[in-house]
Amino acid sequence: MKIVAGGALVCTALAVVMLWMKLRRRRRLQAGLEALRGKVVLITGASSGLGEACAHAFYRAGCRVIICARTEEELTHVIKDLENVQRKWPSEEVKFVTFDLADIPGISAAMKQANSFYGHVDILINNGGISYRGSIIDTKIEVDVSVMNINYFGAVAVTKGLLPKMVERNSGHVVAISSIQGKVAIPFRSAYSSSKHAVQSFFDTLRAEVAQHGIHVSVISPAYIQTNLSLFAVTSSGKTYGKMDETTKSGMTAEAVAREVVHSVAARRNELLLGPFHYRLATYLRNILPDAFAKVMAKRAQKQIGAEKKTT
Ligand SMILES: NC(=O)c1ccc[n+]([C@@H]2O[C@H](COP(=O)([O-])OP(=O)(O)OC[C@H]3O[C@@H](n4cnc5c(N)ncnc54)[C@H](OP(=O)(O)O)[C@@H]3O)[C@@H](O)[C@H]2O)c1
Repeated sequence: MKIVAGGALVCTALAVVMLWMKLRRRRRLQAGLEALRGKVVLITGASSGLGEACAHAFYRAGCRVIICARTEEELTHVIKDLENVQRKWPSEEVKFVTFDLADIPGISAAMKQANSFYGHVDILINNGGISYRGSIIDTKIEVDVSVMNINYFGAVAVTKGLLPKMVERNSGHVVAISSIQGKVAIPFRSAYSSSKHAVQSFFDTLRAEVAQHGIHVSVISPAYIQTNLSLFAVTSSGKTYGKMDETTKSGMTAEAVAREVVHSVAARRNELLLGPFHYRLATYLRNILPDAFAKVMAKRAQKQIGAEKKTT
């Protein structure tokens, strides 16, 4: 009887502690969301997909938004849509900067322009990027270099362009949109996966180096998102893939991921893995059972080659 009563007491105490922790987290998140009001947010790759959804989400949260992509035309559409967004707070005109993430020398001037709007940027969302489809043996080295330039060096250059002001002000938040493929490499995605692994390492290092300046770094690694990413993916020859993959079509909505991005900034999360449980499990398996993981991936590659042979 005494044991049962003791067990019940421990369970009740645990439930109370968990409830208290949940309420504390919720209060912190709420305070973080309120603190977003008026913050200057720069989002790369904001002309479509996740970047566009992030522009809406941060704008609704009361932020001053600077959107970036390669062409003014695409960004003007996004600005027009943002003008119709219902906000709790008085709105500020949305600014834009155009640049190519592959044009590393041009990024420094673009970031000067971005800083000139409000004197600084509080939150940087490194989101712009492209995907890739192909086997390593068939892929031209120029394709590897191009994907790495856009997804990795582009994000590095944008961050370096905005970081000095953040350090000077002893505040800021840098977000890197990576991918589950930045944690685990899958066959026929070498260039993409490698660029995202590099992103993970760079921003993990950055987090450690800038913590002393009050700057936070979040790496967000989603599984598939319903966007145009696979349509614009580059192939082994450098051509555009042009297909909507089933995995992409059945992924999370860009709006749901954007909400998580905003919450990650508000809660100052270091890292977030987003997606169904089996994707997250794969990231743990890769580290705990690397040999088993290697076998599974080799089987997967073989199966994919077999399936392709059947359709050609
Ligand atoms: N969709 C997924 O399944 C998925 C999963 C995990 C992670 N992600 C990541 O999410 C991020 C956003 O991708 P998305 O899914 O939203 O794809 P998306 O709809 O194709 O958007 C890609 C964005 O990147 C910009 N971009 C592409 N190449 C660029 C370049 N050379 N210079 C400047 N901007 C460039 C595009 O702008 P312009 O073409 O107008 O310049 C566009 O705004 C990427 O980093 C991607 O790796 C996506």
